[in-house]
Amino acid sequence: MKVLITDEISQEGLQPLLDDPRIEIEVRLGLAPEELYRIVGRFDALITRSGTTVDEALLEHCRNLKIVARAGVGIDNVDVDAASSRGIIVVNAPYGNVNSAAEHTMAVMLSLCRNVPVANTSLKQGEWQRAPFTGCELKDKTLGIIGLGKVGGRVALRAKAFEMNVIACDPYISPKRAEDLGVKLVSKEDIVRYADIITLHCPRNEETIDMLNARHFDAMKDGVIIVNVARGEIVNEAAMLAAMQSGKVRGAAFDVFSEEPPRSDLVKQLIAHPRMIVTPHLGANTFEAQKNVAVDVSKEIVRYLDGQPLDSA
Ligand code: MLT
Repeated sequence: MKVLITDEISQEGLQPLLDDPRIEIEVRLGLAPEELYRIVGRFDALITRSGTTVDEALLEHCRNLKIVARAGVGIDNVDVDAASSRGIIVVNAPYGNVNSAAEHTMAVMLSLCRNVPVANTSLKQGEWQRAPFTGCELKDKTLGIIGLGKVGGRVALRAKAFEMNVIACDPYISPKRAEDLGVKLVSKEDIVRYADIITLHCPRNEETIDMLNARHFDAMKDGVIIVNVARGEIVNEAAMLAAMQSGKVRGAAFDVFSEEPPRSDLVKQLIAHPRMIVTPHLGANTFEAQKNVAVDVSKEIVRYLDGQPLDSA
């Protein structure tokens, strides 16, 4: 089996593939679409992260492809229907990076609330200023979690440790699960109305695109904080920028954008906004998570080859 890897994947996590004499791996990072179309026909398996778009256009060239393995949770960069209609199986790694994403959420939330990035830049520029970087505590603030799944649930537990009041909305989570996490399940409207900090943890799909839009920003508390370590498109970026510019939103911490890397003026303006702190889609970028997801998808490919049932398909 010939396996093509098109995004950065932990080498250590690929051991199950490297140990298997039936498998040959080729790593080709940063390929232009035309180059990828030209070579992909030779491969039986494709391993990606979010950097490779596996759409109709690519699948048309995948004459030998049997399995697409997404080393991560989100499969929004893979056209699963188009793959399935060609008999290509799509697998992912639904658990390996969820802790990493939850920790990154807390990291950017705390950095924003305590002005860490600006204070760091100021001190390194030789200044010694304290008053301009006075922050706010998480304790006693109401955190509204949109999406109480594997990442959102972990964020809830961590937020409770910081003595926050946690409310959440998620149509797919039972009140019992929320109760176990010590979280009150409410409507999205209540999150928008009552939260001091709103954090999103849902996949990108038809149900979630623009799930925070201008109407929601209008209904939020003045000085609300928005955190997005999930997917860019789930917050309407034009409405987000307007709410930052009007002062409705006090600050925001974003790890994800509708375009990665950013191209349009809108996304560039959002990133450049002084009260916005940003990271380039690092939620899952820990050594632990990258190893975990690489191991998970590697094992799936070996299982496929052995004709065994797959874990994540
Ligand atoms: C995911 O969906 O698992 C993440 O966005 C991780 C990634 O692609 O780096």
